[in-house]
Amino acid sequence: MSDDISSGLSATTRTAVIAGVGGYVPPRVVTNDELARRLDTSDAWIRTRTGIAQRHVIDPGTTTGDLAVEAGLRALKNSGADGADLVVLATTTPDRPCPATAPAVATRIGLPHVAAFDVAAVCSGFLYALQTGAAAIGAGFAERVLVIGAETFSTLLDPADRTTAAIFGDGAGAVVLRAGERDEPGAVRDIHLGSDGGMADLITVPGGGAEQRSRGGFPGPEDLYFRMEGKSVFFAAVRRMAESSLTVLDRTGWQVADVDRIVAHQANTRIIHAVAEQLGLPPERAVLNIERVGNTSAASIPLALAGGMADGALKAGDRVLLTAFGGGATWGAATLTWPDLPRA
Ligand code: UT7
Repeated sequence: MSDDISSGLSATTRTAVIAGVGGYVPPRVVTNDELARRLDTSDAWIRTRTGIAQRHVIDPGTTTGDLAVEAGLRALKNSGADGADLVVLATTTPDRPCPATAPAVATRIGLPHVAAFDVAAVCSGFLYALQTGAAAIGAGFAERVLVIGAETFSTLLDPADRTTAAIFGDGAGAVVLRAGERDEPGAVRDIHLGSDGGMADLITVPGGGAEQRSRGGFPGPEDLYFRMEGKSVFFAAVRRMAESSLTVLDRTGWQVADVDRIVAHQANTRIIHAVAEQLGLPPERAVLNIERVGNTSAASIPLALAGGMADGALKAGDRVLLTAFGGGATWGAATLTWPDLPRA
């Protein structure tokens, strides 16, 4: 039995097609210099080791749901449609442990009675949600799906941890999927997903869940902070994203050289360039927005898609490879052709 799954969307002619894209970041910008005023770090270290110059951070009172609503509305507007019959929200930072954030987001977007749920796969969350939405369309369960990745990682960060503070930012991105044909521009061709629960401790919020409560414990502030073993994650991320990319390219029948653009999870510019190098792709084919927004976890890929559409890095007909790695561990890759959409 393999430890991963692959979807053969080719098995059906009914295929999910990207019909709209939107992104949103909260207005407040935190520069590296601002971080360096309260932590033992520097603009030079953060830029050199990660490629990040700044990140956007919510103001007190703003939630993941707020960012998701903005991104979702923008994606719907970009698609020219006003509705969807399924909302899938990928997030690691839901507004509450219970219920899911997606139903409230759907209601606020003006879709009060549609199916709506959250997907939790940390930084791979968008690809897991994309697969869920694409499969719903492929199976005839939905005609139009709003897939959102939204995060407020700033609510999880240990204020004393310079490493995670330097990397993560808040934001949201979304795509609208509609039913279409595998050969048309915008078609989500194939998706590969995998996981390894043996790596659960590499990226974790250790407390606050059932594991702690079942032992009679209640979380203190320390238990609720996000923890990451950066070095181990770095190497696993490069390896798994490269492997997953090759798997999905093989399924689609594309050579590496066929890929016009790679949109990888914006975790670290060095990771993205290492993945490109392992694949044999020129680094300039990578779409990057990490310098401006940092690592926004499940929002990272759709936010990079929105940015690439806005600045012209993604053009109609481009063959695009998506790939991500995140807590769980989880990983994945997807192939699609870029649609002809109005620039947001
Ligand atoms: O989104 C989910 C997936 N997440 C990722 O993919 C993140 C993967 N990991 C990374 O991107 C990198 O490992 C980091 C950016 C987290 C760290 O970069 P690194 O090059 O792996 O640095 P390191 O952990 O080996 O640390 C090197 C040094 C250490 O000091 P010593 O022990 O050599 O004295 C760290 O304490 O850099 C130090 N350091 C910092 N220095 C200044 C760590 N963070 C910082 C900082 N500013 N912010």
